[in-house]
Amino acid sequence: MRILTGIQPSGALHLGNYFGAMLPGIQLQNQGEAFYFIANYHSMTSLTDPELRRRYTFDVALDWLACGLDPAKAVLWRQSDVPEHTELAWLLTTITPMGLLERCHSFKDKVAKLGGEVGSVNHGLFAYPVLMAADILLYDSNIVPVGKDQKQHLEVTRDIALKFNHLYGETFVIPEPRIQESVAVVPGLDGQKMSKSYNNTIELFGEEKATRKKIMSIVMDSRTPEEPKPDADHNVVVQLFKLLNATEGANQEALLRAGGYGYGSLKKAFFECFWNYFAPYRARRAELAANPEAVHRILAEGAAKATPIARATLARAKKACGLD
Ligand code: ADP
Ligand code: TRP
Repeated sequence: MRILTGIQPSGALHLGNYFGAMLPGIQLQNQGEAFYFIANYHSMTSLTDPELRRRYTFDVALDWLACGLDPAKAVLWRQSDVPEHTELAWLLTTITPMGLLERCHSFKDKVAKLGGEVGSVNHGLFAYPVLMAADILLYDSNIVPVGKDQKQHLEVTRDIALKFNHLYGETFVIPEPRIQESVAVVPGLDGQKMSKSYNNTIELFGEEKATRKKIMSIVMDSRTPEEPKPDADHNVVVQLFKLLNATEGANQEALLRAGGYGYGSLKKAFFECFWNYFAPYRARRAELAANPEAVHRILAEGAAKATPIARATLARAKKACGLD
């Protein structure tokens, strides 16, 4: 079984990334051949600062390794070190109906955020699900651990693969998404989906003071500590708490329901829980950051393992369409 996922280096990774993609990826690395890449080509659709891209790319590698990606078990590489991704994307884009991409929620949301003007959105953002399909199909991936926001992109990948197989003969393995219901959509501080682009994240490895401040200033309703809060299960901090520690999260919910327990105490307890959860990973990350050569070596070795697989699939696809 081959497992594959990608994360864009477009900002600091957060709890949504951790529970939606990283933790499932780390658990799955013991159950098959794990292929995890840093989607730096994808990041070009939203980020145009070369220095930032370089830094975020390195940081994504650090975060994955700190949180438990084992390079002896899983292959970790930078997408741009395997340019076969973009060549396969061209083969696929020629058979992808525009309508399929026009229906993608993530594209529609981004257009809406930019004021509804399709004409001002870059073509890469529109075509991005095709590159994502290439990422997945290039490695004959069976399972793709992602958050729910990527479900539709997985459907696009499957549609494209089926169409290619139909037109040019059996070439690609049809992948399955792996979306864990309990963490399908991790809520952000404002209750929307937590996302780098919504400014509502809790960063995995933010600075202590800033993280505490961010958590303590999460806006809540104006009920006094004394009042019972029967809707405590809807509280964003309670929901995040339960992801980090189910028992303690349920306990906090019960305290709020009973009354006599305020939001300040909840947020303080949450900060402690969050900080302790990531403490061992923070220590490991600091060690790795002190030795950037080792991280670069892991990425180079990852690219060397990914390349022959990508080349073989691309050669098969080119042959199927008469490009050999
Ligand atoms: P972002 O939305 O912050 O830019 P990405 O698009 O780079 O994050 O997502 C990387 C991975 O993390 C994807 O598998 C995505 O589904 C997952 N993910 C991101 N945000 C969340 C969230 N709030 N809940 C669950 N999974 C998420
Ligand atoms: N589109 C994904 C995101 O923004 C990142 C990604 C790119 C990906 N290629 C992928 C995820 C292939 C899984 C498989 O979150």
